[in-house]
Amino acid sequence: ALERTLSIIKPDAVAKNVIGEIYSRFEKAGLKIIAARMKQLSRAEAEGFYAVHRERPFFKALVDFMISGPVMIQALQGENAIAVHRDLMGATDPKKAAPGTIRADFADSIDANAVHGSDAPETAQVEIAYFFASSEITAR
Ligand code: CMP
Repeated sequence: ALERTLSIIKPDAVAKNVIGEIYSRFEKAGLKIIAARMKQLSRAEAEGFYAVHRERPFFKALVDFMISGPVMIQALQGENAIAVHRDLMGATDPKKAAPGTIRADFADSIDANAVHGSDAPETAQVEIAYFFASSEITAR
């Protein structure tokens, strides 16, 4: 099915200057960028985005990391976009990520793991709406 997913290039990957390399992987896989914004997240914004993880032991470290520098946020659209994007990212823990995936190539740890991607259509819808108004999402 034609799907949308939310992608975040995290502060570690922005600092490594690999936004373009990651965008190139999206485009080569047939994903279209339909909205994008670079942003320094506030603590409240990062906590709200990761609210489902609030009780997890890694929550504070995750939020601290996500506000440590600017992130690049985009909505991607394509056939099976959620799974295609997750395959490009690789496993959450870069030590377990398959060779050639974004996390294997650019991530240093499970905390600084370069990218985020929605895990299901319902979360994709919520996550896209968290950062983009409908008027900011282009038809293409
Ligand atoms: P992300 O896909 O952005 O969603 C939650 C993030 O929490 C995850 O990527 C990791 O960067 C981070 N994290 C840190 N520790 C863990 C863990 N044990 N399990 C899952 N996610 C973790």
